[in-house]
Amino acid sequence: MKKLIALMLTLTMIFALASCGSKDNDAASGDTDGEKTVITMACSADFPPYEYYEGDEIVGIDVEIANAICDKLGYELEITDTNFDSIIPALVSEKFDIGMSGFTVTEDRLLEVDFSNTYTTSKQIVVVPEDSPIASVDDILSKDNTYTIAVQTGTTGDIYITGDVEDLGLSHEIAQFTKYSDAVIALTTGKADCLIVDEAVGLAFIEETKGLKALDTEYALEDYAIAFPKNSPYLDEFNEVLDQLIEDGTVQQIIDKYIK
Ligand code: ARG
Repeated sequence: MKKLIALMLTLTMIFALASCGSKDNDAASGDTDGEKTVITMACSADFPPYEYYEGDEIVGIDVEIANAICDKLGYELEITDTNFDSIIPALVSEKFDIGMSGFTVTEDRLLEVDFSNTYTTSKQIVVVPEDSPIASVDDILSKDNTYTIAVQTGTTGDIYITGDVEDLGLSHEIAQFTKYSDAVIALTTGKADCLIVDEAVGLAFIEETKGLKALDTEYALEDYAIAFPKNSPYLDEFNEVLDQLIEDGTVQQIIDKYIK
């Protein structure tokens, strides 16, 4: 009898352990009841080489890194193209699980969202028509000049130049665009004198649009990271996998594929 009870206890424990183990596997693989967890990602797909359209498909560095993380976690990635300045408010109201859109980590943004670890860096540059009278950033920071400066609404480029105009009492007009594509058109059609944009993106615009060149700026290096709603259940596991992908060289390989 004692032997039977001991056997039953052992069996119960084995079953308990087995079901506990399978639960863990489900969570790690993002597989609950056979359905994959879908991670919704918001981006502004006007930002080559990080997120942009190739035909109907959104591709780029951010898309590939997000996919690599989701693959490892057993999640499915669903991408929505939206306006850049609507992404943080949408994360605050938990409309998306992540925002990955060449997001620079800033103190102000950290009040509203959490950021993952950094996956790359960038800085702001100034793009001008090749025959522009603007020779250097000093021309832009001089009170003697009045320019129309194109930016994407809510980006660090927008925030920095708006700050400079206020702090230095400059008389420029800041032309805010929802999408970079329209900002580039403004530049090529003479409606704007220059465009402030992240380095690799500005260089991509210069490559695909004839007649533009870049001025260097002294704006500080910026850290790119993935934005999450505060208290996201996904932040820690994304960081863990992101760090692995940085360590094993996957992130660098993805960047090298897009930035020569
Ligand atoms: N790095 C800049 C920022 O965080 C610009 C990002 C713009 N991203 C985009 N996909 N349009 O403000």
